[in-house]
Amino acid sequence: MNKLGFVRDLDNNLSVQNISVNYLVKKYGTPLFIYDSKIIETTYQKINKAIKPVNGKIHYAVKANDNLGLIKFISELGSGADVVSIGELQKCLKVGMDPKKIIFSGVGKDVNEIEYAISKNIKQINIESKEELVDIIDITTKLKKNANIALRVNLDINAQTHKKISTGDENSKFGISFKDVPDIYNIVTNSEYLTPFGLAVHIGSQIFNYKIFAKAYKQLKNLAKNLIENGFPVKYLDLGGGFGVDYKNILINDFKELKKITTNLFINENFDISVEPGRSLVANSGILITKIIRTKLTKKKNFLIVDAGMNNLIRPTLYNAFHEIIPLSLNNDRECEQVDIVGPICETGDFFALNRKIQKMYKNEFLAIMSAGAYGSVMKSNYNTRPDASEVFIYNNKDYLLKKKHSVEKIINSEIIPKI
Ligand code: LLP
Repeated sequence: MNKLGFVRDLDNNLSVQNISVNYLVKKYGTPLFIYDSKIIETTYQKINKAIKPVNGKIHYAVKANDNLGLIKFISELGSGADVVSIGELQKCLKVGMDPKKIIFSGVGKDVNEIEYAISKNIKQINIESKEELVDIIDITTKLKKNANIALRVNLDINAQTHKKISTGDENSKFGISFKDVPDIYNIVTNSEYLTPFGLAVHIGSQIFNYKIFAKAYKQLKNLAKNLIENGFPVKYLDLGGGFGVDYKNILINDFKELKKITTNLFINENFDISVEPGRSLVANSGILITKIIRTKLTKKKNFLIVDAGMNNLIRPTLYNAFHEIIPLSLNNDRECEQVDIVGPICETGDFFALNRKIQKMYKNEFLAIMSAGAYGSVMKSNYNTRPDASEVFIYNNKDYLLKKKHSVEKIINSEIIPKI
């Protein structure tokens, strides 16, 4: 059996499913995202197993990587989706996902997006404010169509993660304060075209302390029970995503802690449980290959300047996020040196790693930026009029192009010079 993921072959070159990454680089160029289907599948099965005792369902948070090919693959594993825009919803429908497996979340759904989602008969809409509810009532009344509504609750919980990806505290824009839930649930229940479905929570991303998840889930359960005692129907509990990924050791999470807390809380209950993993499902399945286009020695620094930039992977500069970076070809005879690995973009913040120890590298050699499968290509931009990266999927020991990078011409041609 093949070893899982991106591994060294006998010549110390990186390979995946018996395909040399050097071969992929020659075929597709750089920067290049490569995704390994086996890591996604293995991780999916682990999450599935963890929530099996409570009969939980996976709704992949498409925002982590919304490549059509990837959504299709994950959908065919059995997953539903958590989407946050009409675009993500259309992508899921395009690959044939059952609308009854799609949850529409998000703090700023526009009325045209809500109308579209309702017309497609999706599973549920997670609402985040009373104002959104009023819009939904107007739309369902106009269309004379039903919608299943869950309330995303703000439980005022500190997720102990980077502040830019914390969504659970009272001052964040997300969710409906738990204090307002009974009133708003009451409005949903009494609205002609709305079905009160349940409650949802998502307190943030890249969380490792499962006690915080346990606290949030318990409070959600108590809130649900309270509503039920007061005569309201609450069937669905959506526990969100946020499960932390080990970017240092690049190990697949066993989700044992998730299993423990969900089993403890929900095994003897009558709720339909769902989770919305994004990062934890796809982060370690992807790498970003980049070519060293220049090396530069200054008085204090040793730079490797590469052809990918913050326009391809913004996480290091945006969240100070760590990504392991390794040479495509490992050469044990070379000394290690301390370098800054930076992109070509005209910003000092355009870096992938600072003061990182790596074997001596030269111009025209390649590096692999690991764990780039989640929140990598989806957060791309064309800053500095730079094209994005191509994306390749490895499935069954074969490579498939998922996305061809836009040419510079295409970027330029998408703009209009006004005739003034
Ligand atoms: N459900 C909801 C409602 C969400 O807002 C999110 C992520 C998820 C599920 C999935 O969370 P995950 O399992 O991926 O942690 N760009 C940031 C992460 C932003 C997460 C946004 N919401 C990063 O690169 O770290």
